[in-house]
Amino acid sequence: MRALVIERYGAPEEVLRLVEMPAPQPGPGEVRVRMRLSPVNPSDFNTIRGGYQQGLERAIWNRGGGPLHFDPGRTRPLGALPVSPGADGMGVVESAGSGWYARRLVGRRVIVMGAPSGNWREQVVLPAMQAMPVPDGVSDEQAAMFLVNPMTAWAMVTQVLKVPRGAWLLQSGGASQLARMVIRLGRRRGFRTISLVRRAGVAAELERLGADAVVDASREDVIARVAGLTGNAGVRHGLDCVGADTLATMVRCLAPGAHLLCYGTLGGDMLHFPVRDLMLPAARIEGFLLPQWIAGRGLAARLHAARTVGKLIAQGTLASEVGTVYPMVEYAEALRESLGPARGGKVLLSFS
Ligand SMILES: NC(=O)c1ccc[n+]([C@@H]2O[C@H](COP(=O)([O-])OP(=O)(O)OC[C@H]3O[C@@H](n4cnc5c(N)ncnc54)[C@H](OP(=O)(O)O)[C@@H]3O)[C@@H](O)[C@H]2O)c1
Repeated sequence: MRALVIERYGAPEEVLRLVEMPAPQPGPGEVRVRMRLSPVNPSDFNTIRGGYQQGLERAIWNRGGGPLHFDPGRTRPLGALPVSPGADGMGVVESAGSGWYARRLVGRRVIVMGAPSGNWREQVVLPAMQAMPVPDGVSDEQAAMFLVNPMTAWAMVTQVLKVPRGAWLLQSGGASQLARMVIRLGRRRGFRTISLVRRAGVAAELERLGADAVVDASREDVIARVAGLTGNAGVRHGLDCVGADTLATMVRCLAPGAHLLCYGTLGGDMLHFPVRDLMLPAARIEGFLLPQWIAGRGLAARLHAARTVGKLIAQGTLASEVGTVYPMVEYAEALRESLGPARGGKVLLSFS
């Protein structure tokens, strides 16, 4: 089978390679999935460039050497190299090791959740419990993008920030697929969104989705616009995936007691702002990472989340716009397009 792998971290065009390798065999309780589709997400670039590895090396619980883990309990290791990128994706279960549940999945379309190998491969082996049957009414394309963005948008807005009706939410990266989901969630749940973007042309598109205000942060005075929209009160809820100066500006827009989540570093991962900007409104900045959030939920809460997100995808609220679908051999072009500005939807890799 063919796989896209990295043997070292670095620039995508230098380290990502298409290789031939033996088909993986499912062990007890595992299934083998024939992959169909996987999107190219910003997190895949973090995997390729070593962003997770560098962050985990700095984590206090990883002091002292040994394999890097996402948790102090050392139950969730960072995948060892060589590894494939691809955190999202779907395919069809083609074989199973032992186990009633694993065998029951054979022939079914599944969402592949957290395969240790990564998903940019023709065949992936993972525990059957991590292969979630695709809910009825969800297409292959939407199933391939089920986990990373829809679950994150839903969890941040409804479970962590718990944005109430009528409140303002300020978000950066406003043209991203995830931010579009937040806009549609706002329309559905009755909260108002201010979306920061970096190009003028996208405002009308976002307004059609239900955005209350779109601010071109590359040209406009963000703080003045937020002040105008909120009657100088500021916002009580924020979502930032850009970081750096954008986050520093967003902090200046916070109302007393505000709660802002940092969930991406598209513009850089260093932060510099006057601490008093945070003290004066006694605001809270908190990090959010989906695997950490999922790991902190029990089985019932995870099932509830998966069911709710599945319904919201089928209804369109948490759907992703589908961009160009590239066969896996054209991965270089797929990565180039997904890094460029103003793509028409999420770029996908096809493995069949
Ligand atoms: N923490 C988590 O668990 C988690 C989970 C899911 C996603 N995320 C994060 O969510 C963010 C959005 O993901 P996505 O898949 O929805 O993105 P996407 O659809 O691939 O779009 C990326 C967006 O980011 C904008 N962008 C790129 N570089 C930028 C920069 N330097 N400054 C300002 N804007 C920039 C692009 O603007 P243009 O449209 O103008 O090109 C585009 O709208 C990413 O940061 C991703 O890592 C985090």
